[in-house]
Amino acid sequence: MLKTAIQLTLIATLIVTIAACSMMGDYEPLTLDSAPICQPATFTEQAGDWSAEEIATICSLWIGSLPELPPDPSNIYADDALAADFGHQLFFDTRLSANDDVACATCHIPELNFTDGLDVPIGGGPRKTQTIVGTAYSPWFFWDGHKDSQWAQALEPLESPVEHGGIRKQYVDLIAADPDYLAQYVAIFGELPDLSMDDGVTQVFVNLGKAIAAYERKIMPAASRFDQYAVAVMTGDERGMREAYSTDEAAGLELFINEASCVNCHNGALFTNNEFHGTNVFGTVDQGRLIGASLVVEDEFNCFSQWSDADSAECVDLRFILTDSPELDAAFKTPTLRNVAEMAPYTHNGAFRDLAGILEHYNRGGLGSGIGIVGHNDLLPLNLSDEQLGQLEAFLRTLSGGIDAPEEFLSAP
Ligand code: HEC
Ligand code: HEC
Repeated sequence: MLKTAIQLTLIATLIVTIAACSMMGDYEPLTLDSAPICQPATFTEQAGDWSAEEIATICSLWIGSLPELPPDPSNIYADDALAADFGHQLFFDTRLSANDDVACATCHIPELNFTDGLDVPIGGGPRKTQTIVGTAYSPWFFWDGHKDSQWAQALEPLESPVEHGGIRKQYVDLIAADPDYLAQYVAIFGELPDLSMDDGVTQVFVNLGKAIAAYERKIMPAASRFDQYAVAVMTGDERGMREAYSTDEAAGLELFINEASCVNCHNGALFTNNEFHGTNVFGTVDQGRLIGASLVVEDEFNCFSQWSDADSAECVDLRFILTDSPELDAAFKTPTLRNVAEMAPYTHNGAFRDLAGILEHYNRGGLGSGIGIVGHNDLLPLNLSDEQLGQLEAFLRTLSGGIDAPEEFLSAP
């Protein structure tokens, strides 16, 4: 009885939210007022061949189970609409670079799911450009997690010689000299501090990062065909299931959850546990998290720093960080798989051209390329058939749904 009531409420809420929303991607965003508790038997007991247990897992991957974005205690401007607007302008502004030709959007291109499609970005650098979509949910930033907030992350490329290549004083002078930027800055953060002092310059620089973070927090993945299928499964709508997915796509989802155990790491509605794992991806020697963990502890702009708005008690992730364990060696942040078909090449160094390539790597448990083990390997061989690998790939392709963000945020202001 209770179950039926929950089920009916779910269906009713879905219908209401579908009607109420307009969307960027091809599929409607299916959001509930609060994230559902994805326990077996919360929804229908069986749908097609899916068991109650599997339905609960599918629910946990569904975009509607994404919890409301938690506040960022280190950034009191994180949810300020004026800061997000200001951050939007900064994100696209090439004047924030040494030679006026690089903006964040040069590498994080909205049409490419906020990546650049390159193995390594323009300017070089050992690692592939990551997406910013949905990263507001992550406690760590960069492939090795050497930053612990979106605002602290944003400050690094601005001063990196292979990215924007400038220095903080130059950016602060730009704000002070541009009447439009200055007016926005003052409206959000108050009057400029004394810029003859280093601390004054750094304070303004930090605030630019906090505005960029407020913008990035608005960039989320949109519902995909997978989410349409998930809702059909959760409501026991077998016809809806057949309309949403081919048999191969459904078989791929089944492998993803069960035999291939991809959900061990790619879990939750963003298909990432936001943790670091060794998957034996070969390339240049890169110790990943082993170095990244120490860097974030020492970072000038971390959650404990004077520039953070958080009480140190609120810096839970940094407080409990693991810094010196063998499994951190060559471990990288689990990437989201939402919109993954649009994200080639794959992994931290762009080692795989296409999805078939990385799936072959997983099938061998990361082994068999004659290179032994890089750092620490968390994978086991899967021994799937070619047909099964094709099904996994077909499933991954259903995770594309575009971006959910205010329309004006997806291009230069
Ligand atoms: C030259 C290309 C380039 C430019 C310019 C650039 N980025 Fe990046 N971005 C990258 C690369 C490469 C990485 C991964 C680097 C690493 O892990 O070492 C990255 C990582 C990130 C991440 C981490 C995502 C995650 O999941 O951890 C965010 C967020 C981000 N960039 C935002 C920005 C912002 C904001 C700006 C502008 C201030 C910017 N980027 C400028 C190339 C670029
Ligand atoms: C042990 C944890 C773990 C498991 C299990 C796992 N992954 Fe991954 N996945 C990762 C990590 C970590 C990376 C990034 C590796 C790197 O950059 O070197 C990754 C990268 C990927 C990428 C590349 C995404 C991108 O944007 O570069 C795809 C696609 C992917 N995984 C799919 C899968 C599939 C499909 C399975 C199941 C067959 C799976 N993963 C199992 C942790 C895991």
